This record gives sequence, C-alpha cells and structure tokens, in this order.
Amino acid sequence: MSALFTPFTLKDVTLRNRIAIPPMCQYSAIDGFVNDWHLAHYTSLARGGAGLVIVEATAVSPEGRITPGCTGLWDDAQIEGMKQIASAIKAAGAVPGIQIAHAGRKASANRPWEGDDHIKAGDSRGWDTIAPSAVAFGGGLPKVPAAMTLDDIARVKSDFAATARRAREAGFEWLELHFAHGYLAQSFFSVDANQRDDQYGGDLAGRSRFIVETFDAVREVWPENLPLTARFGVIEYDGRDETTLAESIELTKTLRGKGLDLMSVSVGFSTPDVSIPWGPAFLGPVAQRVRQEAEVPVASAWGFDSPPNAEHAVASGQLDLVMIGRAHLSNPHWPYHAAKQLKVEKPSWALPAPYAHWLERYAVAE
Ligand SMILES: Cc1cc2nc3c(=O)[nH]c(=O)nc-3n(C[C@H](O)[C@H](O)[C@H](O)COP(=O)(O)O)c2cc1C
Repeated sequence: MSALFTPFTLKDVTLRNRIAIPPMCQYSAIDGFVNDWHLAHYTSLARGGAGLVIVEATAVSPEGRITPGCTGLWDDAQIEGMKQIASAIKAAGAVPGIQIAHAGRKASANRPWEGDDHIKAGDSRGWDTIAPSAVAFGGGLPKVPAAMTLDDIARVKSDFAATARRAREAGFEWLELHFAHGYLAQSFFSVDANQRDDQYGGDLAGRSRFIVETFDAVREVWPENLPLTARFGVIEYDGRDETTLAESIELTKTLRGKGLDLMSVSVGFSTPDVSIPWGPAFLGPVAQRVRQEAEVPVASAWGFDSPPNAEHAVASGQLDLVMIGRAHLSNPHWPYHAAKQLKVEKPSWALPAPYAHWLERYAVAE
C-alpha cells in the first residue's frame, strides 16, 4: 500500500491522492488577466494525476503583484478567465486551488528571466511598493517601500477578503493565503522587515497581528465547508532558527484556533542573509514539528520530487500532502510515473479513462 496514493479529505473536499502541485508563477498575465497560456498550463498539470493543483500567487491588488506579469483577482472582470481554469482543473480530476497574495516590498520586480530584480526607478513598468516599515529587502531588491499607514493595512486586509470572494465565485475549492516568502504578510512577521512601534510590530502578538486579522477577514467570506489554508515561512535559516520556529508554531496554533485547515510549511525568505541547507526533502522534519506541535495538517515543497522521498514523507508522518513543483513542469504526468515506480497496484487510476484504457492494454514506449 502506498501512503502517497491514498486519498486525503479536508472539510468537504477529497483529493484523489497526497500529491499537490504548489503555486508556480507563470509571469505571463497582462494587467493581471489570465490568458490561453494559463489555461493550457494548468489543464496539462491537472490531467497528470495530482490530487490538488494550486494556481499561482494571484495578487489582491495591482501593487501586490511581484512582476507586471503576475495574475490578479482584484477586479470582478478577472473572474471569468479564472473560472475557465478552475473548471478545466476539475474536469481533469484534480481539485482546483488558488493562492492569493500581496508581494509587499518584493513587488515591482522584473520577471525571473528578465533579471528577477526590482524594475529600475523611472521605468514606467514599475510602481511604488508598500511594507510594514520603510526598509528595503536588499540585494537585487533595493527599492525602499513606503511604511503602511493604518488605512493601508485596513485596505489590504479587505483586498484579501474581496479576492477570496472572487476566487470562490471563479469556482476554486481550496484557498491558500500567501503568508510566506518575504512578501507582505511574512514581512510583518519578520524582525528584519518590521520595525513598527505600533500594534502591528514589536512582540510576537504585534508581528502576527496583520496575518491573524487578514486570516479573520478571509474566514468571514470563505465557505466553512471548503479548505482555508496558508503558506508560511516557519524558518529563515538566518541563525535565529529555534526562536523563529517556536514563534511560527505559536502563530500556526493561533490560526488553527481560528479555522486554519492546513499549513503549507515553507522558508521565510525575509532577508538575503541566510544559509539555507538545500537538499532533497530538507523541510520534512521541520514540517513534521509544525504538524505535531500545532496539531494541524501540513504540506511542504522543495525537493520531494523523487517518488521514494515523497512516499516516505507521507508514510513517516512528516506531511499530509506533498507538493511537487518543478518536476511537474518537466513531466506533467509525474504522479503516473511515481505510481509505477512505487508499484502501486493499479497505477493507471491516476490517469483519466481515455488514457488509462490504452496504456493498460498496450506497452507504450516511455
Ligand atoms: C516557476 C516557479 C514559480 C513559483 N511561484 C510561486 C508562487 O506563486 N507562490 C509560491 O508560494 N511559491 C512559488 N514557487 C515555489 C514553489 O511553489 C515550490 O515551493 C518550489 O518550486 C519548490 O518545490 P519543488 O522542489 O517541488 O519545485 C515557485 C517556484 C517556481 C519554480
């Protein structure tokens, strides 16, 4: 019996297996609107057999985009395109999820293949950024953001709620709040990025406040029967790891108490001065700690892409869901091949019948 290929139920949603495709920006939208590329891309991923496909970081406001090519759902007119994507993912047998996000001080950047750095001052493609404090990220992202006023904070929280409502209207059944990767929410939590001396800074409760209140605002509009999840960087690898992890677990417990259904455990990426121990499945033990101490289902990504590692992560109790990202870009049928490698008795179940019928009957060259 494979643990990876057992179904997973959260609220009223059942995934056909424990394989999820994490959000991966395509940087190919225009003014936040999705197009045929997104439809082709997400359809191809979903037909490959994963249980859950999470659409890329989708901005809650124009200034919340990472790059000019990021998707958005800040306008009702953007719902229609997303509706087609959610529907196509579902038709291919996966559950359609979406990550909603605000990039904070990392916004207004060039696409990765155009430099991955801030758009230069004076270039009309760029825009003004906001963050908890007027402190730049550094490195290739030197732009100094404006420190958010209390009105800005209230506005962004309601942008998250309005975007969640649009995501539901578009047909998504799984919502992930992007609280990770040094973007706006994570930077409120970060002692490097957040130097506020009001109720949104300082101690753990202060640095958690934006995240908790944003979660509450979304909880009010997102249906109770569908999974409401978050992605958060629980560790930075900046030398303060035990403190950060303990605080992150406290935050996770708080969110759990307010209705968080699953935490996707990631790295903070709040400062360039880190030493991340990259390696296969390196976040497995960290995620397991969050799972046990916060008593919440967890997912994680980063290098779980060898089928035995993915299987181990679920079988050993590290993860409830394994996120397989880049490997799906090179092989959208990763789940099918993983099932074969793990000798799952009937691997073709991960394929839709029009494929399974032929692959079971004939030896198809791979
Ligand atoms: C092209 C690309 C785009 C990404 N975009 C996002 C994103 O929109 N939101 C996010 O939380 N992570 C994003 N990530 C990180 C992935 O979700 C994932 O954590 C990462 O690829 C590591 O998993 P893997 O080793 O299975 O690829 C992106 C990664 C890639 C490669």
